Amino acid sequence: MQIRRIILALCAIVMSMPVFAQGLRVDDLGNRNVIVRIDDLSKKYLLLPVQENVPESGVFVTVNGVAEPVRNVRLAIDRVDYMVPLDLAPYKGKVVALDIHIGEGHRRTNVINDLCWSKMELSDEFSAENIEKYRPVFHHTPPYGWMNDPNGMFYKDGVWHLYYQFNPYGSMWGNMTWGHSVSKDLVNWEHLPAAITADQWGTIFSGSAVVDVNNTSGFGENAVVAMYTSAGITQKQSIAYSLDGGRTYTKYDGNPVITAPVECRDPKVFWNEETGCWNCVLVSPLEYEAWFYTSKDLKNWTKESEFGGHGVTSAIWECPDIIKLTDPETGVSKWVLLININPGGPAGGSATQYFVGDFDGKTFVCDSAPEVVNWLDYGKDHYATVTWNHAPEGRTVAIAWMSNWQYANQLPTRQFRSANSVARDLALIKTQDGSYRVSVVPSKEIETLRNGKPMTSSFSAGSKGRAVALPSSLCDIDMKFTARKGSKVTIRLSNENGEHADLVYDGKSYLFDRSESGIVDFSNDFAVLTTAPASPASEQHIRMILDVSSVEMFDGKGWWAMTNLVYPTSPFTKVEVISENGTCRVKSLKVYNLSQN
Ligand code: FRU
Repeated sequence: MQIRRIILALCAIVMSMPVFAQGLRVDDLGNRNVIVRIDDLSKKYLLLPVQENVPESGVFVTVNGVAEPVRNVRLAIDRVDYMVPLDLAPYKGKVVALDIHIGEGHRRTNVINDLCWSKMELSDEFSAENIEKYRPVFHHTPPYGWMNDPNGMFYKDGVWHLYYQFNPYGSMWGNMTWGHSVSKDLVNWEHLPAAITADQWGTIFSGSAVVDVNNTSGFGENAVVAMYTSAGITQKQSIAYSLDGGRTYTKYDGNPVITAPVECRDPKVFWNEETGCWNCVLVSPLEYEAWFYTSKDLKNWTKESEFGGHGVTSAIWECPDIIKLTDPETGVSKWVLLININPGGPAGGSATQYFVGDFDGKTFVCDSAPEVVNWLDYGKDHYATVTWNHAPEGRTVAIAWMSNWQYANQLPTRQFRSANSVARDLALIKTQDGSYRVSVVPSKEIETLRNGKPMTSSFSAGSKGRAVALPSSLCDIDMKFTARKGSKVTIRLSNENGEHADLVYDGKSYLFDRSESGIVDFSNDFAVLTTAPASPASEQHIRMILDVSSVEMFDGKGWWAMTNLVYPTSPFTKVEVISENGTCRVKSLKVYNLSQN
């Protein structure tokens, strides 16, 4: 009897012991430390199980006894949300062990019973296929994992390069790395291996890249030189160069190249044709300042001036850019300083403000009074806007991260999180008081997605409304209309579930209401209204670009832009025009179906 009980008890213990994947040896050292030895390096990946609602554990990949910079991973405790891959290719022929410092929330004793150890697996497959309902189609998204700011954009030999703040080990912010994608047309993106990864100076925060055509740096003719923030215990600026057109980078031995006794980040470097010199603008986020630098060789930098005290000065300044824009109608050119701020945006959270002025290569002088604030986009999901270096045809092409720090980590997606906006062309536009604003229109490349002729209609709409079917969840809507004075025109996108997102024009401004557009409850900050001042024209012209989970709205001439995410539980199937207090004459409503070739 006694023996039977002992056998049963032993069986129970053995059965409850976790089973580890072949090729892995898992060793609990107590004191919140586990070592995983990878004996079989023949597979491509070690897949790590992630649970998003638990704190990060520190994973130190130790190669022949030397630890790489930490990767922070939310290793699963009792539920696996998704897997993330550790690429084993660089470790072939080496001795590899993971030294794991267990995060909070894991078992204090017998940590080995937490789910992550038994669910880790060696595999040749890691699928990043688009399996998610809310993944956009023609917008740039990371292959998997988290993305924030666009970085290091340059155009070379017909290719638009786009790097981005990437977490390869989870769909929430962390482990900042430069992911890399390329496109020939700004609407079809190809993913390339991550380009710049953390080192002893820190993780890789935002920055920019230039093509050093004249080899001023000595790195080589046409070397691509990237400058980024090394975010360690302090923030400083480092450079890396690429001799294969931006695919792989070598870090400069003399890093960091710019240091300061306060936090400073997000360097934007560009060649200044007017001065024949390299310029860099970066921010001192907590002092609400932009700092300007000059250099002859991209390695040695001189600080020339500081700009601050303008616009929103009570929120962190991030991701600056300075560009020279021209008004195509008057031919007048001005310099424009873009400053992304967080929080303090027009509808709360993050947004892009800008200043119009003059720049002599050393100092930026703003045309407007300190209290004037200009917004590049009035929506809630438009941040970290920066422009491409060396864009063709003298164009200034910008892209923004389509999210908001208020809820970016909570968006209802899993294997990936966040998309970038469509590319936009920036120019100047003269206002009625003679000053200049920045105009924003979707880049012409979007039109290459237009599939066949648009569905075109013209009608008068009253309070009952007139609806037009949408061909798919990917559309480009172009509408010209005139509204009766005092009327309220609603342009409503809706689905069969009664969910709708409304763009409302009242003669003076546009308002966007997504409070009943579908999933909105992941954050109280999401369902907030956004508003933009309308163009002064009596005939209104608007564009709305829909791609599964985003609505990007523009004035036809670029007077305003408004970018907002939406998560309808089924795709919007119609666009309806409703006019209260007087009819609305819709001169033309064109709906283009968009598709990739
Ligand atoms: C802006 C930002 C940058 C920083 C990066 C880090 O969204 O905070 O200032 O470089 O994100 O991921």
